[in-house]
Amino acid sequence: MRLLENLKWRYATKKFDPSKNIRDKDLEKLKEAIQLSVSSYGLQLYKVLVIENQKLRTQLKKASWDQSQITDASHLFVFCNYTDRSEKYIDDYIQATAKIQGTSLDKLTVYGDFMKKSLSQKTDSEWISWSEKQTYLALSNLLTACAELKIDACPMEGFEPDKYNDILGLKEKGLNAAVIAPVGFRSEDDHTQFRKKVRKPKELLFQSL
Ligand SMILES: Cc1cc2nc3c(=O)[nH]c(=O)nc-3n(C[C@H](O)[C@H](O)[C@H](O)COP(=O)(O)O)c2cc1C
Repeated sequence: MRLLENLKWRYATKKFDPSKNIRDKDLEKLKEAIQLSVSSYGLQLYKVLVIENQKLRTQLKKASWDQSQITDASHLFVFCNYTDRSEKYIDDYIQATAKIQGTSLDKLTVYGDFMKKSLSQKTDSEWISWSEKQTYLALSNLLTACAELKIDACPMEGFEPDKYNDILGLKEKGLNAAVIAPVGFRSEDDHTQFRKKVRKPKELLFQSL
């Protein structure tokens, strides 16, 4: 299975080669992998910023524990969950489903109402935690797609979301930076690439019942 080999090849890249950039064609493939990510109810309640602008990334680096990946990678992906609980997102999804799948709106409205009811039962903090979780599914697809294309990446929580929200003007757009991933190509002298993977043995990780 090629996927397992690719997953063994990848690692959380600590040092990127700033002279290497992702080809446009591959960038589109990475975006498509994110687009195809699963999400609860299929709602995809997030936006993904793909940042190349170096000025912006220099500012963001300061809000990311000064980690060099932010400026040295080819692109910085910032996964932003929606912060408002608007029912409009559900209506939009229902409309899109009706159009794409050719289903009657009447049938779908019942499903839409079910989603609205179910989501309205979440407290604000449950809703935020739930919407942030959705972004991690997209992050995971990005990391897997990168591995397949032999592109390096580093998933990161080591940043200050409030500062990101300020720098990128996210609050006023109803967005919050949940998790980030610089993507590009490893530097030859990133020693991390030579370290053996540390993973729990299967006996500890799994339980057959
Ligand atoms: C959600 C998340 C946040 C992470 N945050 C950082 C980070 O801020 N900086 C960093 O260098 N690595 C970060 N990592 C990388 C992990 O430390 C790394 O994935 C883990 O040690 C396993 O190693 P591997 O990815 O090289 O196999 C993060 C990983 C995840 C999944």
